[in-house]
Amino acid sequence: MAQTQTQVMNQIDPAVKKIIDEILTANREKPGATMVILNEVQGKVGYISAPLQNYIAEQLKVPVSKIHGVVSFYSFFTTTPRGKHTVKFCMGTACYVGGVEQLLDKANQVLGIKAGETTPDGLVTLEICRCVGACSQAPVIVVDENVQGRVKPNKVPQILRALQEEEQKS
Ligand code: FES
Repeated sequence: MAQTQTQVMNQIDPAVKKIIDEILTANREKPGATMVILNEVQGKVGYISAPLQNYIAEQLKVPVSKIHGVVSFYSFFTTTPRGKHTVKFCMGTACYVGGVEQLLDKANQVLGIKAGETTPDGLVTLEICRCVGACSQAPVIVVDENVQGRVKPNKVPQILRALQEEEQKS
């Protein structure tokens, strides 16, 4: 059964709702408003969960499937909050051919999560991304903003451990 607006709003933190309402007010008349609004929500809230998608769709008077379609198509949108650190795996052609899938498999094994997921302690999110322009160093991963090239699968546990150790020190 479809949820009423009240039920949808009840699932949204009031502080988050306030941010979204401000974004809606500022952007709803702009050309390409849906994309602009979703970008702003991702940037300011950090994620666009199913309740947020429902709320935005209701407010814009568009089908929720349209919002969901955009959110799931672009990898920079996430439906859950990202972890403190993000490790991206480049799925561009050079990195794919260079074996980036094995790096992702290794990270999956070490952390017990898949691409698009965050560790339960909120420390690390694994993501896939498009070419980051460092093809000559394939396969490439991006640890936060730091591009690392020619990564071998056996280096992945070390890279992830460094993030965990850095956290323990802080
Ligand atoms: S394909 Fe990975 S950096 Fe270009």
